[in-house]
Amino acid sequence: MSANVVADKSKEDAGDELGQENMKDSAKDAAKSGTKAAERPEGLPGNKDDWKENFKEDHKDSLNKPRLTEEVVHLDHSKSTALFNRAKEHIPGGVNSPVRSCKAVGGEPIFIASADGPYMYDEDKNVYIDYVGSWGAMILGHKHPRVLQAIEDAVQHGTSYGAPCRAEVEMAELICQLVPSVEMVRMVNSGTEACMSAVRLARAFTKRNIIVKFDGCYHGHADSFLVKAGSGLATLGIASSPGVPEEFTAQTMSLPYNNVDALREAFAKKGDQIAAIIVEPVVGNAGVIIPSEEFLKSMQGLCKDTGALLIFDEVMTGFRVALGGAQEKFGIKPDLTCFGKIIGGGLPVGAYGGRKEIMEHIAPLGPVYQAGTLSGNPLAMAAGLAQLRFLKSGKPNQQLATITEELAAGLKAVGEKLKVPLQVVSVPGMLSVFFTDKEVTDFDLALKCNTELFGKVWHGLIKRGIYWPPSQYEAAFPSAIHSRAEIKATLAAFEASIEEAVGAKA
Ligand SMILES: Cc1ncc(COP(=O)(O)O)c(C=O)c1O
Repeated sequence: MSANVVADKSKEDAGDELGQENMKDSAKDAAKSGTKAAERPEGLPGNKDDWKENFKEDHKDSLNKPRLTEEVVHLDHSKSTALFNRAKEHIPGGVNSPVRSCKAVGGEPIFIASADGPYMYDEDKNVYIDYVGSWGAMILGHKHPRVLQAIEDAVQHGTSYGAPCRAEVEMAELICQLVPSVEMVRMVNSGTEACMSAVRLARAFTKRNIIVKFDGCYHGHADSFLVKAGSGLATLGIASSPGVPEEFTAQTMSLPYNNVDALREAFAKKGDQIAAIIVEPVVGNAGVIIPSEEFLKSMQGLCKDTGALLIFDEVMTGFRVALGGAQEKFGIKPDLTCFGKIIGGGLPVGAYGGRKEIMEHIAPLGPVYQAGTLSGNPLAMAAGLAQLRFLKSGKPNQQLATITEELAAGLKAVGEKLKVPLQVVSVPGMLSVFFTDKEVTDFDLALKCNTELFGKVWHGLIKRGIYWPPSQYEAAFPSAIHSRAEIKATLAAFEASIEEAVGAKA
């Protein structure tokens, strides 16, 4: 079984699958072309008219392209290799963000030429089912017609003003509506900026310095966070980055995730100096790790008791694990929340927000300085608004949850069938496969996984047309446009890749 599934499917019904067209149209088209209608999960919003996005019409050129070039096991990457060699001359490591180097899996970067729905095409015209989704930004898949239209409309009016615009107001209103703990919000340009600014605000508001974070959580690359950080740093085996003065990191405590005793101890010792806890309410940057209820409640309680602020970093989880983010899913109201990714629809963006009495400390209303030439950029606002407005119906999130569950269940079954110990951890829209026989509840346990096996499986997946995140310590991001056909192809590719990697026969 190979990604030929994708090739066959794409020739026959990729338009329907990509566009989540309704069942009726799909069947009609299938009858016309004499092909079988695509298999589709029952009860998904994709089967309803109101999901319809005229995707086929908008994508008729790209949908006619072949999905896979040839036999999957010998993909040609010569153009990617040539570009990588050129890139290394003038870009450090040939990439503009470390994880893209694919070093963690012993590979080289694949240069992407275009993307469409749940698919990405590389420079050598290989096609992949994409599970990176621009690290979570593309919740509706690539080139969603509404997002493209919004950008096209906005660009007619210019690309940046350095003065306020209507879209910023609408974005702020929508965020506050979807995430009720946020009464005021400030737009920035990245998740890093959002977290850095939220921490500055928390320190100013509480007049304290210490920040508590958790091992394996990543909050961007601002100096105070580069203490035993997860994600790219963990992958590259760097405990903390040179260039960060010890005086800065001395103000940051990094504790084990899900460890209530460690948390209580830290607050017992330093409670009156702690400005804030910043936490990924579901970890994505050590692979997916789910918080225990006790851990969430303890953070909330300790913050309340000591006057520290609780900052949820929802850069990944926001509008994904639920429409109102992880805070809606777990019923916790943080004091401040950081956003990114989805709210920019694939354009550079970030935001932080929270209670009015805290947010009012930001300049020009208050003394806490924070600014940005491109903050609230009209194109980013337009793309993000289009994406959020489409999410608002609740249906894409519902679809995403169903698809993620199917993928998770299928992967668990693959592990059982092949008798390969693996843990599948997922929440709606985020999923990790850890090669270990132990439940992964913190970063230390994640670090004990078989990364060598992960690397082999990753290469197997690439050969079979599956673009999985190139690190054991990253979450995979299905989109709401992924359908059962993509999931089926992915499961088949996982089975073949694991089998190949462990040399096992089912
Ligand atoms: C939870 C979390 N916070 C912050 C960031 C930093 O965001 P950015 O890469 O936009 O600076 C990331 C990036 O992946 C993230 O996952």
